[in-house]
Amino acid sequence: LRHLLTLEELPRERLVALLDRAQAFADGAAGRPLAGTAVCTLFFEPSTRTRLSFQRAAQRLGADVLNFDASTSSTSKGETALDTMKNIEAMGVRGFVVRHSEDGGVAALAARAQPGTALLNAGDGRSAHPTQGLLDMLTLRQAKGVDFSRLKVLIVGDIRHSRVARSDLQALRTLGVGEIRICGPRSLLPDDETLDGCRIEDDFDAALEGVDAVMMLRLQRERMAEGLVSSLEDYHRDYGLTAQRLRLAAPDAVVMHPGPMNRGVEIDDDVADGPQSLVLRQVANGVAVRMAALEALLG
Ligand code: CP
Repeated sequence: LRHLLTLEELPRERLVALLDRAQAFADGAAGRPLAGTAVCTLFFEPSTRTRLSFQRAAQRLGADVLNFDASTSSTSKGETALDTMKNIEAMGVRGFVVRHSEDGGVAALAARAQPGTALLNAGDGRSAHPTQGLLDMLTLRQAKGVDFSRLKVLIVGDIRHSRVARSDLQALRTLGVGEIRICGPRSLLPDDETLDGCRIEDDFDAALEGVDAVMMLRLQRERMAEGLVSSLEDYHRDYGLTAQRLRLAAPDAVVMHPGPMNRGVEIDDDVADGPQSLVLRQVANGVAVRMAALEALLG
């Protein structure tokens, strides 16, 4: 594997090997396989979890970590993303963790990288967020075991614009999940092949019946300006996860959210902070998964 751009390209055995290695890191495995290697977090969009957990992961592997902040960089003078990467590459950086606003933006940079340089997609447009997909699978596996074939997983919200949902869907299919249910406003569901094979439910209560995991997505508030959602109140009424609603799921169902959360919109405080929530476990697993990915590409 030269770059990590999507989970679509990862066969099952490769995906499982990455999860196994991430679990070892989560259990305390240590080492400095990236000592002497320079890794740059090259983010052209904001981030808290992905950027910092990649930095933490690279540090734990012994790498030298450089942080590029678009807002204080020469991109504000018109320098392109490609020129930015090539200049940092000229400084001897071998690993780039890249977040880009355009679909395929990271792949386009990867195509122009030198041999020996690896790019890890930290989210591009609405297309893919592969390490989020991996950390979600690791979190689900820890909670429910390695056999996904009997699991019913519900994904709720703005799937149309969600790179997280696309990577989760790819990984869930690769791991042979039993059933994927989808719920959200029709205006926020994709009309391409993304949801092939999924059970689409308009009614959130019906969608929740007996599911083992509920993956909530952030309502991208800018979609309201586009007229794709009527109001925050309406959204919460129809698609907000409340403690009362969660009782419709399996008694041991788990709740996940990639963050950042809109509390009181797609998820209530008592669910986000409640005993069934794995939200902070997801964040912790982000470091372990990103260590596994960096090691696989650069170690
Ligand atoms: N889940 C996620 O990608 O969060 P950040 O945007 O904070 O990195």
